[in-house]
Amino acid sequence: MVNTKITVLDVQQAKKEGRKLTMLTAYDYAFGLLAAESGVDIVLVGDSLGMVVMGLEGTVEVSMEDMIHHIKAVVRGCKGPLIVGDMPFMSYNISVREAIHNAGRLVKEGGCEVIKLEGGVDFAPTIEAIVKAGIPVMGHIGLTPQTASALGGFKIQGRDAAAAKQIIDDAKAIENAGVFSIILEAVPAPLGKLISETVRVPVIGIGAGSDVDGQVLVFHDVVGLFDKFVPKFVKQYTNIRSIILDALNEYKKEVQNVTFPGPEYSFKMPEEALEQLKNMIKE
Ligand code: KIV
Repeated sequence: MVNTKITVLDVQQAKKEGRKLTMLTAYDYAFGLLAAESGVDIVLVGDSLGMVVMGLEGTVEVSMEDMIHHIKAVVRGCKGPLIVGDMPFMSYNISVREAIHNAGRLVKEGGCEVIKLEGGVDFAPTIEAIVKAGIPVMGHIGLTPQTASALGGFKIQGRDAAAAKQIIDDAKAIENAGVFSIILEAVPAPLGKLISETVRVPVIGIGAGSDVDGQVLVFHDVVGLFDKFVPKFVKQYTNIRSIILDALNEYKKEVQNVTFPGPEYSFKMPEEALEQLKNMIKE
């Protein structure tokens, strides 16, 4: 889907046609360009930037200003995919009014087309209000990293029948509230399948098995740029970190032994001008 602008309707249509959706995160102009060039359908400017870009332990410290700054950079480079801006922790949890205000800021100031927020049944009224205000919402259920401590850490969710039923209820509630799609994180694959079959909107999985309507991964995980914490559901398709380190080490070595910059990377000066200059300095 390179060169065509993906819309919310395209995302919904994909499920009807049985076409798997592809989604990646991105946090800046360069990675936004690469994501767009790869032709993925959706790019999420996720609050995971707290960990992979800002070096924080989790996502709770990420602010509205951080999100707007990074969304703006991605929007400049990423022209084809639908761009989703992630609502940071406590930007939608205090009141519905504040949630609408902050969702509006991500769209108006950041320039993304839609927003994502974490939460199930309890957040259905908030989602409904944001959708009514004219901003499409992507939901996020299962493991919700912003409230991971309340869930007992970064753990698989919905393993027993009661917990799984709660996640199905969450999916139904946010679908009824008007989400156009749902991120489903870290649940057993059979539960992913059941949820995808239960709701009409596309379910995009991250650690939810293959029987969902699409997949999302963090950019840095896909290319092997972040290895502080690699969840079981991450497949690293390359190890860009070692490629970058090889290049940096080579650069350092060449500067130290003066093989860089050679003549091909240096600017020439006409002999005459150089002679003249030397004489001028002498005078
Ligand atoms: O912030 C993020 O990157 C996310 C994805 C992992 C879905 O929420």
